[in-house]
Order: sequence, then C-alpha cells, then structure tokens
Amino acid sequence: MKKIKIRGGRPLRGQIEIGGMKNAALPILFATIITGDVCVIENIPPVGDIEVTLDILRTMGAKVTRLSPTVVEIDTREVQQGSSPETLVRRLRGSTYLIGCELARFGRAKVGLSGGCNFGARPIDLHKKGFVALGASVTDDDGYVSAQVKGRLKGCKIVMDNISVGATANILMAACTAEGLTTIENAAHEPHIVDLASFLNSCGAHISGAGTSIIKVRGVEKLHGCRYAIIPDMIEAGTYMVAAAATQGEVTLTGVISRHLDAVSAKMKEMGIVVIDDGDSITVKTTGSFGSTNIQAVPYPGFPTDMQPQITALLSLAGGISTVTENVFKKRFRYVEELRRMGAAISVDDQNSTATIVGVHRLHGATVTSTDLRAGAALIIAGLAAEGETCILAVAETVERGYCDIVGKLRAVGADIEFVDEE
Ligand code: UD1
Repeated sequence: MKKIKIRGGRPLRGQIEIGGMKNAALPILFATIITGDVCVIENIPPVGDIEVTLDILRTMGAKVTRLSPTVVEIDTREVQQGSSPETLVRRLRGSTYLIGCELARFGRAKVGLSGGCNFGARPIDLHKKGFVALGASVTDDDGYVSAQVKGRLKGCKIVMDNISVGATANILMAACTAEGLTTIENAAHEPHIVDLASFLNSCGAHISGAGTSIIKVRGVEKLHGCRYAIIPDMIEAGTYMVAAAATQGEVTLTGVISRHLDAVSAKMKEMGIVVIDDGDSITVKTTGSFGSTNIQAVPYPGFPTDMQPQITALLSLAGGISTVTENVFKKRFRYVEELRRMGAAISVDDQNSTATIVGVHRLHGATVTSTDLRAGAALIIAGLAAEGETCILAVAETVERGYCDIVGKLRAVGADIEFVDEE
C-alpha cells in the first residue's frame, strides 16, 4: 500500500505534457471488440483503469501487444462473448461498455456489475432502456446483466430521460451494427463522446451529430480495424491548472485542446487568475490573492463534475465566500471532510447538493484519505498549497487509476511530493 507525502508551500513552475484521456480510451478500447479485427490505439494513458481494461480484453481472448507505453495493438478476432472476468469488471465503471460492444458484435452480452468511483448510486437504467428500444431483451441475474437479440438490433429513436455520458456511449456502440437508423436525442456532448464516434467512424461506422444533442447512427453490418489516436485528457489538464493557481505558480500545459477547458478557464479568470490560451497549450499564473466565485457542475460544455473537488480545494484559499453546486452526482462531497482536516472552511447542504466555502488564508498539512479519483486530486492540490506535511492515504486505488505519473509530473515542476509505503 502506498501513500503520497507532500511538503507544501512551493509554487509550481514549468511545463507539463498532458496525456490521452482515460474516459475516451475506456470506451474505445472496449469498442475494439465490435470490429473483430486488429486496431492500433495511440495516446493511451498508462493508468490503472486502462491496465485493468487491457487485462479484461486479454482474458476475453484478445491479443494485446504494447508497441510503446502509450500505443497498443489489439486483435479481437478470437474474443469470446460473455467471458469477461467478474473480479476485474467490478473494478471499473467503464466495463459497462462491454454490454453495448458484445451486443453489437455477437447479438448477445453477459457482463458482471461494474464498479468505479463511489459517489453515490450509479444506476444503468438508461443504458438498459436504450438496448431494449433497439430490440434486445435485457435481464439482471445473480450480479450479471444479460442482453440478447434475435437477428440484428433494429434502429429506432431514443430520447434519453437524462444526459448520461455512459448511456450515450453504450447505445452509440450497440447501434453501429443495428439495422437502419438510430437517433439518440438528449445525448451527452462530452469530447469523449465525439472521440468515440470518430473512432467508430474510422472503423466504418456511419455516425453524425456527435458533440450535439442529437446523434444519428446509420447501422452497418460490420466494422473493421483502424489506427486511432485518443484526444488529450481535459481533466488531467484542468487538475494541473488548478494546482498551479493554488500554489501561486506559473505552469504551461502542453498537448491540450484548450476549448475543452473553456468552462474551467472562464471560472479561473473570473477569480482573477491569469489563464493564457494558445489553442494547444494553456498557461496559468497567479501572483497574490484570487477571488471567490459560484460554480454549477453540469454536463459538458458546462463546468465538469470531474473538476468539482479540485476547484473546491482552490476556492478554499480564495478571498471571500464561494458556492459549488453539484448537479450530476448529488453526493459527490465525501472529500470535503478531508479538506476540513487541512483547515478548509466548507459546509455542505446535502439537500441542495451545495458546498459553501469560506476562503481561508492558508491550509495546513494533515493525514487525509483519498475517497475517490478526483477527490484524491483535490487533496494533492490542497497539500501542495498547504503549510507543512500532508500524507494522503489510499492513493493506489484512487489517484493512480486515472492520473499518469502524477507524482513525477508534479516533481518536475518543483513540487516536494513522493510516494512512500504505508506502514
Ligand atoms: C462518466 C465518467 C465520470 C464522469 C461522468 C459525468 C467514465 C468512465 N466516467 O461516468 O468520470 O464523472 O461521466 O461526466 O467515463 N444516470 C442514471 N441512469 C443511468 C446512467 C446515469 O440515472 O443509466 C445518472 C447518474 O447517476 C448521474 C448522471 O446520470 O447522476 C450522469 O451520469 P453519467 O454521465 O452516466 O456518468 P458515467 O458515464 O457513469
């Protein structure tokens, strides 16, 4: 078991290269199953969740060859339907994508219940409703979800009750090989949905409208393999933007698509932080104090829920009172108690899913526990800004699932941070 130890108070200065987006890589890696062919995927982030995904694919019979740390070749010709290992599937939210992928390739699917970050209930009713609309029968037995269709899935119009990234991606994948036209209305707009659609189109799918509320999929009989590069991770970039500001530093993030970060940049500018956008790089600098603001975490293109804990950590050092309202995962405030141990003055109104943050002059080091992936990132940001030593527990099962070499990247810009073994 590892923990992260930080001696805080050093401004971050320098340049950080941003890797591929975990949440785009997950559906794309699973979608290689649909092709039943050889795909080469570039810009894969070497993080815990991706290693688990590749292990699931290997167990199912895929030949996975690492061409470099960030490039993998995946041959899914021999993949066996329904053969994903339950123990690994449970470790990932993204493993839900196996249902759509198996349905698209084999007309049937059997997948264990998925896991992932714990910020309250994470139902998959919208995914299932979509598969049923496409003509599949879906059942839950003994911790497994099974789906099957006689012949091919049939294209139809699906109006999503709620905006869901996972359900949009899963239905999109299943619809690729359905007969006729599928229209997904009230679809998620996230850049990773656009990336998935671009990958599927490179494999021969006919998808239009990804990135808008209405996605159309004209089904084809079969997909084929391709070579494809994953987009940069906007959440990794956003996390380092906030870390730079919290430490009164100056950091340039390279290899980004800056417009994906518009909502984060806008809020930081509103706080008086300097954000310079160069299209494929962003520089953040702060000298002196910054102000408070009010934030609503909502689906893209609004402020992302996956940046909500990190911005709350930053706002705990702002001059004035801020509010952060979480509209996607209403219970995503478990980490607040840990920030309070470091001197943050935050109260949470559970009824309205709103945190009120009274800015303090400084945080102090403490021993805290990372409760999920982005919560861990928020605690690292707080630790970098705090006076004294911070120890963050449970990082292997949280932070390391989604951040590639976070300790190495922060050390390279001047942070005093290291992994140490937990006694
Ligand atoms: C994905 C991301 C996660 C991010 C989230 C929102 C992955 C692996 N995870 O999660 O990091 O925080 O998008 O940007 O990509 N919902 C239902 N029924 C469903 C599906 C979702 O009620 O069938 C609800 C959820 O409980 C939540 C909201 O819809 O309140 C949005 O969830 P969704 O967008 O589906 O998140 P995930 O795909 O699980």
